Amino acid sequence: MATSKEYIKTIQKKFNDSLKKIKTESELEQARVTFLGRNGEIAQLMAQLKTLPVEEKKVIGPLLNKLKIRSQNVYENKQKELHDAILDRKIQQQKLFDVTAYKYETTRGSIHVYTHLIEKLEDVFISMGYDIADGPEIETDYYNFSALNIPPDHPARDIQDTFWLYQPNRLLRTHTSPVQIRTMETKGVPLAIFAPGRVYRNEETDASHDFLFMQAEGLLIDKNISMGNLLATARTFLQAIFEKDDLSIRVRPGYFPFVEPGVEIDASCPFCSHGCSTCKQTGWIELMGSGLVHPNVLKTSGIDPTIYSGFAFGFGIERIAMIKYDINDIRLFHSSKLSFLDQF
Ligand code: FA5
Repeated sequence: MATSKEYIKTIQKKFNDSLKKIKTESELEQARVTFLGRNGEIAQLMAQLKTLPVEEKKVIGPLLNKLKIRSQNVYENKQKELHDAILDRKIQQQKLFDVTAYKYETTRGSIHVYTHLIEKLEDVFISMGYDIADGPEIETDYYNFSALNIPPDHPARDIQDTFWLYQPNRLLRTHTSPVQIRTMETKGVPLAIFAPGRVYRNEETDASHDFLFMQAEGLLIDKNISMGNLLATARTFLQAIFEKDDLSIRVRPGYFPFVEPGVEIDASCPFCSHGCSTCKQTGWIELMGSGLVHPNVLKTSGIDPTIYSGFAFGFGIERIAMIKYDINDIRLFHSSKLSFLDQF
């Protein structure tokens, strides 16, 4: 008989036993639906109650009510037990967290010393009214040599050992001077440009020579430009870069086919007054090649040398960085050594 006392007891036991085995909240929910749900076993017993004779209803009714209340209590206790267990597991996991464990350090990247110095140099030249210019690293013989007054068979070609490409007349530029020709052709005069960039030379490397390095080119063309303008410009930007107001410059004759006269500019050593290891005890540091733009170069670029004159200079960015930051080997710039790069 579905509504006998024994049956009600059996249902209660079945429910209690099934809950004991339950491990998860979803299993518990399944049990709730089966026993306590709207169409669950207890609801079905309640429905049968109506069909019983009055005397039996008086006995079975309270028993079913107790079954419902007890089952509900058993369910809620199990719900709390499961909830507490989940919380315990979370707390336990937190306790397992080892505060002394090694944590990987997060290191922040830094800009390359090239970028650092080039940005500084660009700021100085922009403040003097220069535009920043650029040119291709794969150049033609014309822009790298011929237009710069270095015709085929000129011995000056041998000074800059060249990486020739398989395409005829194509090469990796050996200096930033081709940017001079390209900007004179496209911008016309007057002009003032500063052009930093990569250059390539097919030569053995040592502590002060690399086969890939950075140069920067300066070019100013206008009417009545003289050596005085070149020297004042050189001193101004060298003083700014080395952050030394009393830095002096000195000039020695130098030969570059695209300038006439050509000069080498040295700066007084920014670190000493009598000689040190940086200036090799001389008090002077060789910094750049420069001179007044050769009339042939102006003519080739469509500029009348009887009206316009100008100066040009070129220097190695690494050489400046090596002096400024006391770096003893040029090959460190491309070494990808974090201990070196992190310093800047
Ligand atoms: C030139 O390349 C000329 N174009 C510079 C110039 C421009 C002169 C405008 C006159 C007017 P040079 O070959 O000397 O010149 O190179 C210029 C600078 O590049 C050198 O002073 C040096 O600082 C740097 N340099 C040259 N060769 C290397 C190398 N292998 N590794 C690193 N730096 C180098």
